[in-house]
Amino acid sequence: MDYRLSTMDYKHYLCRMERVVSGVRPTGQIHLGNYFGAIRNYVRLQEQADCFYFIADYHSLTTHPNPADLHANVREVLVTFLACGLDPEKATLYVQSDQPEIPELYLILNMLAGIGELERTVTYKEKASKQQDNLNAGLLTYPVLMTADIILHKATKVPVGKDQEQHLEMSRNFANRFNFQYNCEIFPEPQGFNFGEDLVKIPGLDGTGKMGKSEGGKNAIYLGEDPDSIRKKVMRAVTDAGPTGTNQPLTEPVANLIAVMKAVSSPDTVQFFLDQYAGGSIRYGDLKKQLAEDVVAFTAPIRARMLEISKDDALISRTVKLGAEKARASGSQTIKEVREAIGIKRFF
Ligand code: TRP
Repeated sequence: MDYRLSTMDYKHYLCRMERVVSGVRPTGQIHLGNYFGAIRNYVRLQEQADCFYFIADYHSLTTHPNPADLHANVREVLVTFLACGLDPEKATLYVQSDQPEIPELYLILNMLAGIGELERTVTYKEKASKQQDNLNAGLLTYPVLMTADIILHKATKVPVGKDQEQHLEMSRNFANRFNFQYNCEIFPEPQGFNFGEDLVKIPGLDGTGKMGKSEGGKNAIYLGEDPDSIRKKVMRAVTDAGPTGTNQPLTEPVANLIAVMKAVSSPDTVQFFLDQYAGGSIRYGDLKKQLAEDVVAFTAPIRARMLEISKDDALISRTVKLGAEKARASGSQTIKEVREAIGIKRFF
């Protein structure tokens, strides 16, 4: 799926422009995995499509975060968005809860969502088997809320990771169901895309699996993390006893470090350590030292901007205000059409 527009297409730019919607849950600090898996591509996309990026604070309520943390985390994501180069003039950057049309559409869509299909959602089933103590209706209807986010802005493209593909499929069903039920064509079918070759998966530092927030955060490197802390984490990353001969395949923990290196270091550096490994003479301490310095160099400018922006309340508030206005201009138009289609009209 190629979303790029060549310069030849420029004349038709407006009519061919894709509408992109994507959300990030404010669960805490943004790490390298989030950056390479989503945000970096958001930044590229804002040049080529009409992008709506938001912070999904309603979605995070399913786990009842404490209010001060929730607010701080929303702010943190906003600051990170800006520090990474998302531009509030080019894209629409907003906070989900600033948009009252989302809960309205969510309510309406709930009337079209079957309990059975919601119960069959993989993410819900996992939660149902693991956390029976807090199996709230918000978890069950999570895909409906996500659909409201997406179709409110008539998204045609939704950048999401693999774990969200089923949700996106459900949003296509709900969109089509609405159009069918009310005999209209308000909602286009949102298609997922994952950036193809541009998608870089960043593994964690604990030897297996992807980078994520684990106990104590030892597995992830955050964009705003200070250099010493980054060095410590990288130096403590899991490796193994080393190759026992030449030309051996990379073991998982080593392959993981190399994968992080591919994202932040020069190709020559990566090749150097691959050659060392192939020669059977690699010193993991050297690899980690180099990796730590390259991660520090990579994150330094982002971190510097985060520190700057974080102090600038006026900038943050201008950004969200502009985003809320742009998002509401689009959302209120859709809601008007929706109300019309379903027969909710004002008597006054
Ligand atoms: N569910 C997504 C996640 O957990 C976040 C999200 C909420 C989202 N609404 C969305 C993503 C709409 C894309 C489009 O990552």
